[in-house]
Amino acid sequence: MNFNLTEEQQMIQAAARDFAQERILPVAAEHDQSGEFPLENIQAMGELGLMGIEVPEAYGGAGLDTIGYVLAMIEICAADAAHGTIMSVNNSLFCNGILKHGSEAQKDKYVRAVASGAEIGAYALTEPQSGSDASSMKSRAIKSDDGSHYVINSRKSWITSGPHARYLVLFAMTDPDAGANGVSAFIIDSEAEGFSRGKIEPKLGIRASATCEIELDDYKCPVDCLLGAEGEGFKIAMGVLDAGRIGIAAQAVGIAQAAYEASLAYARERKAFGREIGSFQMIQAKIADMKCRLEAARMLTLKAAWVKQRAQATGQRFTVDGSMAKLVASEAAMWISHQAVQIHGGMGYSKEMPVERYFRDAKITEIYEGTSEIQRMVIGRLETGLR
Ligand code: CAA
Repeated sequence: MNFNLTEEQQMIQAAARDFAQERILPVAAEHDQSGEFPLENIQAMGELGLMGIEVPEAYGGAGLDTIGYVLAMIEICAADAAHGTIMSVNNSLFCNGILKHGSEAQKDKYVRAVASGAEIGAYALTEPQSGSDASSMKSRAIKSDDGSHYVINSRKSWITSGPHARYLVLFAMTDPDAGANGVSAFIIDSEAEGFSRGKIEPKLGIRASATCEIELDDYKCPVDCLLGAEGEGFKIAMGVLDAGRIGIAAQAVGIAQAAYEASLAYARERKAFGREIGSFQMIQAKIADMKCRLEAARMLTLKAAWVKQRAQATGQRFTVDGSMAKLVASEAAMWISHQAVQIHGGMGYSKEMPVERYFRDAKITEIYEGTSEIQRMVIGRLETGLR
């Protein structure tokens, strides 16, 4: 076992940290308040290679590994989780799926555009009536008689980056009688006829990452925008989420790290009853538990990244590792940010300090890309072999 980072991993970590400290941290609170999408920063992150970290250089990415991606996500999310949400959807849910299942032409056109930061990508699985039960979607795609395109009618909800996405990977039923095996994946262009955006979601946290409903009304999707084969869509969606969940685990570690560091600084500095509050055993116990949970979450997330990396050669699934990392890291982020608010007392409840933002942002990591209940179900099913 080797815990040392490679030179390339250290480089992307340092580049992400510098960008996060210089460009994101100074504007994070402002974006959280206004809910304004940080488009300029996202484009600049694209230029730095942060929007396609694992995308080969041939398609405009940084050509690095999953550990590099996790390290960069942690740094970005420690400054602002909303920037991290946009980054993780571009990297894990959009580029990763097309790289794995797309044709050469699809990779060249869509991955290049999103990995470079020139365009924003999104992933459209959830529908108003189907969140956790993803295969019960109502979206329909019917192939035209001449076989040149699919006509898609669909209503998707909770689409991260939806208001700004140029391209989306969208899932719809081509064979509704076949259940999960009747789902297909499509690459959608938001500038084409039949595409429209609906309600923008007002959210508790990650407020600068815009989220909206998407509607396709007799949208004509050319056959060459089918991703993978007909009927493979659900497995593509789940495989992509296996990778996405590692990104969300990294996001949770970033939020937890920021909450921990803020608490440590406050505990050393704030005085009560004539001494630093960090000298009280009750605060020290909190700091110790926060540190243990933070490092356990970090280790499980890096391990999942390593397993995913190895799976590139073996083709094995890394579903359990991704789910374990997300489950443990998201619950750690929620717990640590909760303790951080408590350590800060009244200041933890105030918008003058960032800890209340960490607390609000942490919550989403237990919900999106599969709730904690779904992660437990995935792990439990695969470990027991029973359902
Ligand atoms: N990789 C490959 N194949 C997989 C897979 C995986 N990870 N998971 C399931 N499959 C396959 C199964 O093997 C099965 O194949 P066969 O029919 O050949 O046996 C098929 O897919 C159907 O699987 P299940 O029977 O397990 O399907 P299910 O209907 O019981 O659902 C579930 C399983 C785990 C609950 C799944 O629906 C799920 O993960 N739900 C949560 C959805 C989710 O995470 N949504 C997040 C939305 S995206 C988002 O949040 C993005 C954002 O905003 C940032």
